[in-house]
Amino acid sequence: MNILVLGTGYVGTTTALALSEMGWHVTGLDMDSHKVQQLLQGKLHFYEPGLEPLLQKHLQSDNITFTTQADRSIQVSEIIFICVGTPPLPDGSADLHYVKQAARDIGRNMNGYKLIIIKSTVPIGTQEKMTEWVRSAQRQSHPFDIVSNPEFLREGKALSDALHPDRIVIGATNEQAAAAVQNLYLSLKCPVVITTPRNAELIKYAANAFLAMKISFINEMARLCDKVGINIKEVAQGIGLDPRIGNRFLQAGIGYGGSCFPKDVAALLSIAAEHGTELKLLKEVVSINETQHLHLMHSARTRLGNFMGTKIAVLGLAFKPDTDDIRESSAIRIVRALMAEGAQVAVHDPVAKLPPDVNDAAIICSSPSQALENADAVFLCTEWTIYQQLDWVHAKQLMKRTNIFDGRNVLDAKKMAELGYFYQGVGYR
Ligand code: UGA
Repeated sequence: MNILVLGTGYVGTTTALALSEMGWHVTGLDMDSHKVQQLLQGKLHFYEPGLEPLLQKHLQSDNITFTTQADRSIQVSEIIFICVGTPPLPDGSADLHYVKQAARDIGRNMNGYKLIIIKSTVPIGTQEKMTEWVRSAQRQSHPFDIVSNPEFLREGKALSDALHPDRIVIGATNEQAAAAVQNLYLSLKCPVVITTPRNAELIKYAANAFLAMKISFINEMARLCDKVGINIKEVAQGIGLDPRIGNRFLQAGIGYGGSCFPKDVAALLSIAAEHGTELKLLKEVVSINETQHLHLMHSARTRLGNFMGTKIAVLGLAFKPDTDDIRESSAIRIVRALMAEGAQVAVHDPVAKLPPDVNDAAIICSSPSQALENADAVFLCTEWTIYQQLDWVHAKQLMKRTNIFDGRNVLDAKKMAELGYFYQGVGYR
């Protein structure tokens, strides 16, 4: 049996490879011929640990292939995953343009029963809309089911999340379709939630919104900790041991970024507004997050006087380690804010790059040491292991003034002070 994965972005490629790893034969379909050519040569067009070797392994064993031919690949596949993007529109709502296009392509090329599984993050009621889009595009009537099966992959850990998920959520309108999707994941050992498509759609948004809320909560507490001289890491540990709270996603810092939390919280706010209700808590979550980097900027300004004429090293640009993704990255917000206040900024990241509009104004460094040379302060913005393991004794010799502003609270405050640094984390020093 052939499975088609429509869309070979980050979610589509990970899904396709995870399905191959589970023993299924998979075809990845994308309109972008350059991407398809690259994938066929065993090369990924984004950075994600562990995926490229798996791609090469399954290409070699013929378990996976990629194509740009929509008509034929749809006709020969009974199961079709939709993994296209749902980027935010200016009002925060999700753009369903690609989902609609995919549904219409499937409808037009149908030649028999199809099980369509939507993995893209989509607003409540999209499964119903898709049913209409597929039906209206059909040239001849054929039966089909559309099942909502949201993904919970984290960038940087996508492969392990896909092969060892916490849970699988299946939103179906009938038992047979739900069972068929469950059968695909039979080799995975985890709880399966079988529910309605609408519930599944909201589960995805609510999960991301809850995690974003946890981060903004701990960040707000961290602001208080800085005022009263309390250590947020100990507070997080103390509350996190209560299993009702849990210790994960309680790491205070300069705020969450990425393509998911900011986009999905905005989309959920937009869904609520559309239905005449206001999610006040989530509005605050967003507002805390959007100003969280300013809190560390303020600490640094207090220490340095102002940034005019200073040289500041920024370590880390990605929104988190193990990815080259800078979308909504708090590190980029810090770079922009420092530049706006007259600092000369020297940046380093193992893989991520600055956006073009600020790239020319910064000093791009090929090593952390180069960025630290003659710096008045360093901002640690992404907790890459190389920064945590940096030789901070040597780094001291390179810097003009030894100030560390740790935006991820990953360095040991006591040790840094013993080494002679002025160290300030977020709610931690
Ligand atoms: C997130 C979710 O964790 C996944 O479950 C979900 O599938 C995915 O979005 C999605 O919707 O596709 P991701 O955006 O890859 O995954 O990254 P996370 O690991 O969740 O981190 C998001 C941001 O929160 C990062 O900027 C990270 O630095 C920040 N964060 C995370 C904190 O500031 N504190 C924490 O304690 C944890």
